[in-house]
Amino acid sequence: MTEKIQELRRLASMEIAAVQDLEDLDNFRIKFLARKGFIAELFDELRSIPSEDRPSSGKALNELRLFVQTLFDQRKRQLGSGSTKRKEMLDLTLPGRARWVGSQHPLTQTLDEIKRIFFRMGFSIATGPEIEDDYHNFEALNFPPDHPARDMQDTFFISEKILLRTHTSPVQIRVMENQQPPVRVIIPGRVYRNETISSRSYCLFHQVEGLYVDKGVSFSELKGTLVTFARQFYGSDLKYRFRPSYFPFTEPSAEMDITCFLCKGRGCRVCKMTGWLEILGCGMVDPNVYKFVGYDPEQYTGYAFGMGIERITMLRYGIDDIRILFENDVRFLRQFS
Ligand code: DAH
Repeated sequence: MTEKIQELRRLASMEIAAVQDLEDLDNFRIKFLARKGFIAELFDELRSIPSEDRPSSGKALNELRLFVQTLFDQRKRQLGSGSTKRKEMLDLTLPGRARWVGSQHPLTQTLDEIKRIFFRMGFSIATGPEIEDDYHNFEALNFPPDHPARDMQDTFFISEKILLRTHTSPVQIRVMENQQPPVRVIIPGRVYRNETISSRSYCLFHQVEGLYVDKGVSFSELKGTLVTFARQFYGSDLKYRFRPSYFPFTEPSAEMDITCFLCKGRGCRVCKMTGWLEILGCGMVDPNVYKFVGYDPEQYTGYAFGMGIERITMLRYGIDDIRILFENDVRFLRQFS
């Protein structure tokens, strides 16, 4: 009898662990606890054992029944509470959880669009180092050592001859050093200037440079390319003008203005009441520059241009503080998805 009781205890412990749902649990109850179950059978056997053993076996049997009943009750409680929990989790009246869709930084969006437009016009992309030497950033771009044009840019110097590039123009030199004409590239990248940080200027910003050198490239091609770009970027009804300007590495040089798209040329705060917005600098590559890279200025001509991406992005989206473009505040960035 004692052995049978032990055996049933083991069996019940094993089987309760295998119970997965209420149906399994009911089968367990029928097998062990019901009127014709294992435990009832043992109670029947009690009658046929010697009478002096009956009290102790009866006690052990009662304990077994209590043990199996407890296993049953516990499991029932677990299954029961599990199922109500599942029901609660499926409250269909709760509002859904919105997913956040990420977005590209407005500067990246502007840059990508500029790249796409020039790519369609046959330009490929070139890049260069942000840590530059004086030679590529100034000298080979026709800034002589004591030329006052060097003061136009406040430079972060790392050592006497090494600096953070102040514009993307040095990459023009690097491209021409490594490649014979025809050259047709745009050069996107970061540039650095040691300026007082304010709503209008930051210590770093982005530029896109352009360079096209081949036989017989003319100023009218420069204008045609830039007007095509501006029409695609700003809209086909755009008005523009080219103003004479000065850069050491181009001759002649110009700046391109477009009518202010906020006031349509009537004059407002953004265009400082002029009706015009300057969007880029450009010009024909100065023959002196060709001497530095070993191109024959008698054989080749070309044009170059450069524009600031922050300025264009700010005008486009009506952003009035450049610093917000570098702070990565999600409340700002989320508006560009
Ligand atoms: N590098 C000039 C700047 O940072 C912009 C520029 C002007 C680039 C004229 C050019 C150019 O390639 O032809 O202000």
